[in-house]
Amino acid sequence: MSEVVLRAQNVTKRYGGTQALKGVDFEVLEGKVTSLFGENGAGKSTLMKILSGIEQPTSGSLELRGEPVEFANTVEARDRGISIIHQELSLSPNLSVRDNIFMGREITGKAGMVDYAAERQLSKELMERLEEPIDPDTKVADLRLGQQQIVEIARALSVNARILIMDEPTSALSASEVEVLFKVIRDLTASGVSIVYISHHLEEAIEISDHAVVLRDGSIVAQAEIADVDLDWIVGNMVGRGFDLGSPPSREHFGRPALTIQQAMVADPTNPERLAVNGVSIEVRAGEIVCIYGLMGAGRTELLEAVAGRVPLVGGTVLLQDFDVEGLTIAERIEAGLGLVPEDRQRDGLVQTMSVGRNLSLASLGSFLKGLVLSRADEKQLIQQMIRDVRVKTAGPGAPIGSLSGGNQQKVVIGKMLATNPKVILLDEPSRGIDIGAKSEVFGLLAELAEKGLAVLYSTSEVGECLSIAHRVIVMSKGRISAEFDAAQTTKEQIMAASGEAAVAL
Ligand SMILES: Nc1ncnc2c1ncn2[C@@H]1O[C@H](COP(=O)(O)OP(=O)(O)OP(=O)(O)O)[C@@H](O)[C@H]1O
Ligand SMILES: [Mg+2]
Repeated sequence: MSEVVLRAQNVTKRYGGTQALKGVDFEVLEGKVTSLFGENGAGKSTLMKILSGIEQPTSGSLELRGEPVEFANTVEARDRGISIIHQELSLSPNLSVRDNIFMGREITGKAGMVDYAAERQLSKELMERLEEPIDPDTKVADLRLGQQQIVEIARALSVNARILIMDEPTSALSASEVEVLFKVIRDLTASGVSIVYISHHLEEAIEISDHAVVLRDGSIVAQAEIADVDLDWIVGNMVGRGFDLGSPPSREHFGRPALTIQQAMVADPTNPERLAVNGVSIEVRAGEIVCIYGLMGAGRTELLEAVAGRVPLVGGTVLLQDFDVEGLTIAERIEAGLGLVPEDRQRDGLVQTMSVGRNLSLASLGSFLKGLVLSRADEKQLIQQMIRDVRVKTAGPGAPIGSLSGGNQQKVVIGKMLATNPKVILLDEPSRGIDIGAKSEVFGLLAELAEKGLAVLYSTSEVGECLSIAHRVIVMSKGRISAEFDAAQTTKEQIMAASGEAAVAL
């Protein structure tokens, strides 16, 4: 048996009327990876915030190597060797990679001056260790989401923590980036570092963990050695029932082409000399569901953002039915029936200062204007329906958006776009951060809407999600379409091979 390095004893946490943790005993084992599983809103991040000093427990205590401890803030936890990789990235976009890594604990040299050269060198080494050789002086805002996540990981590693908490570290990483992270995790545990790992990619978490703990509704309901658990055990304990991700709705109702993308070209935002999307043509008919699979950096996000009008096309056309959308703003495209659920909900999807309800109805406000008066009753009804449809777990429509768990915020972003009553919906990694139950509900809802004529185009880097509700799978690699499959007649292996990814057996 490994030794317990950090222990939470009978920890509770109350936020107003919400009891997020109800008396949790949790152990972190020395040199091991302990995975914490649970549905959206189960209390995983709350528990991790308490272990790392971000939040304080309402009651209960912590013990570090057998000695009672209290952390008033993250600095105190960090001084005792505990560091956290946040689920919601906590980087400052306008600062460089180096500044972000060393913010608040600058390396100082002679006369107390910041030693930028030393910081730059260490940043470079950390990024190389993570096999993402980004120049330390690059501004974080110029990095794609996955790279930002790697900077967040680098910052946590730079502390040389003995206990490292990883709250969804891989949600924006590609399969090969995840492999690199796993290599780093194995090195760390070999040198005695203890890790707590949280991920909604369950297979991935099983692969890296030694010990599994399941949290349901603020209480620990099961724990076991990883050798003794499988997917069914985890899912069963998380939610008490099994799930599948659905199957494609009938093809009988396919209508006319709803979205036609012809020879789209989009510049690479980090290097305008390069094309992130290079001549991509896709047609989606009313009632059809098309999945775009590819690695991070394949150009999927850039393509969807250009179609939605967030970034310019440098070549090609986008037709909504027969109508060329060139020159239309994002809002005008939404009005015309074309909406995007973006990848990065923190930056693009939500207004953090507004309530859950307001965020849900924001994009569809136009439809509540009767004359010049906003119909509050209609708005309220729509908000209630969306909270139900996408199963947002919230204290109520008036709750601040920041009080929702990460996955529930993601559901609000999806609900907000569905509320605009689109003809074509684009979803960039819609399942990022949402639990398996919510994932199957969201996919079920999309399938239902497709049956009524909605055209759906979604991107994913989880191959299992392509072989669920999609009729057709398009594989992108390096800005081009590298293959196209009828979803009914293809396999995971074929899809992964076409993306340039070796089929890793999990
Ligand atoms: N600052 C806050 N104010 C009010 N309620 C909060 C706050 N932070 C979390 N909660 C509530 O506590 C509960 C647990 O949330 P937590 O973020 O720990 O869930 P989680 O298990 O990490 O979920 P996810 O998988 O979606 O990240 C939820 O009901 C959430 O709404
Ligand atoms: Mg969380």
